[in-house]
Amino acid sequence: MTTLEATEGTLRASPATWLVTGAAGFIGSHLCQRLLQLGQRVRALDNFATGHQHNVDALLEEAAGAGTFEFIEGDIRSLADCRRAVEGVHYVLHEAALGSVPRSLEDPLLTNAANIDGFVNMLVAARDAGVRRFVYAASSSTYGDHPGLPKVEDEIGKPLSPYAVTKYVNELYADVFGRAYGMQTIGLRYFNVFGPRQDPEGAYAAVIPRWFGELTAGQRCQINGDGETSRDFCYIDNVVQANVLAATADSPEAVNQVYNVAFGGRTTLNELYYGIRDLLSVQQPELAALEPVYGDFRDGDVRHSQADISKAGQLLGYTPAFDVGEGLARTAAWFMGQSSK
Ligand SMILES: NC(=O)c1ccc[n+]([C@@H]2O[C@H](COP(=O)([O-])OP(=O)(O)OC[C@H]3O[C@@H](n4cnc5c(N)ncnc54)[C@H](O)[C@@H]3O)[C@@H](O)[C@H]2O)c1
Repeated sequence: MTTLEATEGTLRASPATWLVTGAAGFIGSHLCQRLLQLGQRVRALDNFATGHQHNVDALLEEAAGAGTFEFIEGDIRSLADCRRAVEGVHYVLHEAALGSVPRSLEDPLLTNAANIDGFVNMLVAARDAGVRRFVYAASSSTYGDHPGLPKVEDEIGKPLSPYAVTKYVNELYADVFGRAYGMQTIGLRYFNVFGPRQDPEGAYAAVIPRWFGELTAGQRCQINGDGETSRDFCYIDNVVQANVLAATADSPEAVNQVYNVAFGGRTTLNELYYGIRDLLSVQQPELAALEPVYGDFRDGDVRHSQADISKAGQLLGYTPAFDVGEGLARTAAWFMGQSSK
């Protein structure tokens, strides 16, 4: 039996109360969905800054089958909202934040307010409510300009964007709340997460949903740079696994740590583009010869990124079950289903 199977068995037998912030968003909604499938009591918080009501509606429907679900429309920039949300909660999965490097370069104050003020509010509220564990979304952007590959948790460089600063500051605060107040925290440095329900719209959309959205609409996609930029793209189910394991890991060495959460591979933008195009071409043959447009490199982007995931493997029992190919196939199926609606 894997660590995940054992953990899920324990949770099913003895359900806990969870708070998922950012639940109307991409990662938060998947976390809620899995917890409900495991029969957990789930409270969710979101202010719809970038999240969607339809994700919440889907969770309310899911809860009719298993678990219990309560949604609070609230803002992590309000301490009162955070206190209300953490009341009676065992585990916090804190995902609410403003993502996107370009957004943070355009409006560092807005990013700072949600990602740092909001984060400290959540820590204070969780500390005062005595939650068992506070698991939070950290980011691979914390590696900044460090040239080493693959990335190992304790070797980081200088941040390359305000967003990266906020995510690093989260780690510093979590560490201090562990030392000063005895809080149990775990930070998960996500690497380019993708999957169904990720938002393809808007100026700050991530590359995978953007390309799925554009290609299903028959549009050409732009690659920033020469296409040889590479990332460790990570399918959403692997991220869900890491969160469940992080919340429940009981070895003391596993706690008050940060972990890379990725697949542990590297895919170039060119490989990604042609992979997505070929998957969609099965249903839309007119895409088969569609070439991308190459543009300028984007400010604040690192050239290559790949995670060493051995720490999460050793201390949390994390074993990513989906590689990029399998993840893209599942994501393609979802986008094709959406476009035929
Ligand atoms: N998607 C990735 O590849 C990736 C990579 C690294 C880290 N992360 C982090 O993971 C987390 C989730 O990202 P996502 O991809 O699901 O993004 P998302 O934008 O889909 O979800 C974020 C959610 O947070 C909510 N939110 C924002 N500000 C809020 C506020 N002030 N109060 C309450 N809710 C607020 C948004 O409305 C949204 O629903 C974020 O912390 C992000 O920084 C994501």
